[in-house]
Amino acid sequence: MQVPQHIAIIMDGNGRWARARRRRRLEGHRAGLKAIRRVLKACDELGVSVLSLYAFSTENWTRPRTEVDGLMRLFAQTLDREIDELNREGVQLRITGRRDGLSPALLRKIESSEELTRHNQDRVLNLLINYGGRAEIVDAVKKLIAAGVDPAKLGDEHITGALYNPDLPEPDLVIRTAGEQRISNFLIWETAYSEFHFTETLWPDFDKADLVEAIAAFNARERKFGGLNDEPTDAAAGR
Ligand code: IPE
Ligand code: IPE
Ligand code: MG
Repeated sequence: MQVPQHIAIIMDGNGRWARARRRRRLEGHRAGLKAIRRVLKACDELGVSVLSLYAFSTENWTRPRTEVDGLMRLFAQTLDREIDELNREGVQLRITGRRDGLSPALLRKIESSEELTRHNQDRVLNLLINYGGRAEIVDAVKKLIAAGVDPAKLGDEHITGALYNPDLPEPDLVIRTAGEQRISNFLIWETAYSEFHFTETLWPDFDKADLVEAIAAFNARERKFGGLNDEPTDAAAGR
């Protein structure tokens, strides 16, 4: 079985998980953060080296203030609680997204967590907070304009190089939980040739078996990147 080097997950369904249990939405988010531990462990066991997780979009600010505040508090608490263990496990943590709008306290934790784990090389946990694919492309274009790139010479590689994580491989596999089949502004540039897998499982219930199922589905795909894989040419086939 071929294991994807980079798996990216749109962690959806925390609210529905809570509603099904007659609990508050924030409890769904808390359960969702716990699922991250489980999935990170499964990635380690399976040999996935980069895991990108969509935790908060640039559009999620439109949710009720109590939910947004609660989520930000949960992010800060979780960083505090987990960062030493993540570091011991050799995980490099990255928090990807726009920094403006995040509280100074959360920003300090993000910076110290990234600093602490910067030297870990084997595995990357990339958490996307206040992230939007369009915002990322806008930020990249701004950087390029500021650097004075000649529009006549502008190519894909300039945009790719100006994104938030130019050194990470593009996702091989994107998983979205909770039955929705849309991208919701997630890594829209980087997923140009990613494989997609959708599952009905709600994110707080997602476990190693779900991950293995997604990887098996990935293995059944034929990636072609616009080309032809080992097909005989028409001439060789006598056509
Ligand atoms: C995903 O769960 C987490 C975030 C977007 C922050 P949701 O909160 O979107 O869960 P549903 O879609 O309401 O079930
Ligand atoms: C996408 O989920 C964002 C995250 C998982 C962080 P949403 O629940 O916000 O997406 P929509 O609104 O259903 O498209
Ligand atoms: Mg949702």
